[in-house]
Amino acid sequence: MMKSHKITRGIILAGGKGTRFDPFTRYTSKHLLPINDKPIVYYPISNFIKNGINKILIISDKKNIRDYRRLLGSGKDIGVSFTYKSQNKPRGLPEALILGEKFSKNEPFALNLGDHILFGKDIDIVLKKIFNNNKLNTIFTIKHTKTREYGVLEKDYKGQYKIVEKPKKTNFRDIVVGIYTYNKDAIKIAKKLKPSKRKELEITELNNILINQKKIKIVRLNNKKNFWFDAGDADKVSKISSIIKNYEKKNKIQIANLNEIALLKKLISKKTFFKTIKNKKSSYFDYLRKKYENNKNKN
Ligand code: DAU
Repeated sequence: MMKSHKITRGIILAGGKGTRFDPFTRYTSKHLLPINDKPIVYYPISNFIKNGINKILIISDKKNIRDYRRLLGSGKDIGVSFTYKSQNKPRGLPEALILGEKFSKNEPFALNLGDHILFGKDIDIVLKKIFNNNKLNTIFTIKHTKTREYGVLEKDYKGQYKIVEKPKKTNFRDIVVGIYTYNKDAIKIAKKLKPSKRKELEITELNNILINQKKIKIVRLNNKKNFWFDAGDADKVSKISSIIKNYEKKNKIQIANLNEIALLKKLISKKTFFKTIKNKKSSYFDYLRKKYENNKNKN
């Protein structure tokens, strides 16, 4: 029988300097700030648990790990497992692969940036397909106008792809978003990377090596059906909040309500679900009560 290559492990990288969120980041991690009624980090976690990833390693800086533990705990209440690892210094995104080596148990895994907001009409179909059977490394791209702020996927006259990090000028519009899948080949390469001019290991360098070795798949996301944002500063956070608020109101759903996802994906029993939401008064829990209270005694 063929071995299945289902990805069930995922890393959330939620450290960094947080300088663009001062004064908040004097007392906590930026990924714990709110987008509407949920912490930012709930959004990337939802991409995982909606699509079969139920073992999640949270990487953050040492002083903030405590706050993640207080928020997420063991994950028992939503039927997943959270473990934690600290990154001593923000040495770059590829360090997530090195710090997560033990956690990955030699199997392919996913990586999602802690400030990465991705939702929409077909994203779950796309992610599920990739996570369900994948030995390869994967990057995802989406059409975007702000090419100066991101890694941009360019193609030369020979048809060879190359990612250029934050180009001042480019004719290309496909930017690389912050969710990836990697395998042990990628970990090996990450360990050999040298710090760049800004003294960080660069994910773009890693991905370019994988492109040259033909060990990476490029998946294009539909920008008409999906929304993608990085919650990189306070201004972006308030814009994203209002977009999500309108989207949720229009579609009568909530994005990234982890307790709801856990119930619908049957990661937890109804009993656990109702026990968790009992006597909670915030809008996050009100939504759940209004929507599911009548279901309490149904099978
Ligand atoms: O958002 C997608 C972009 O993410 C890609 O298009 C770029 O190719 C990729 O380099 C990355 O660019 P950013 O400039 O957005 O990366 P940034 O340094 O802002 O880090 C992204 C997140 O990762 C941020 O929430 C902080 C966290 N982080 C960052 C570093 C460098 C860590 O937890 N540890 C780190 O060492």
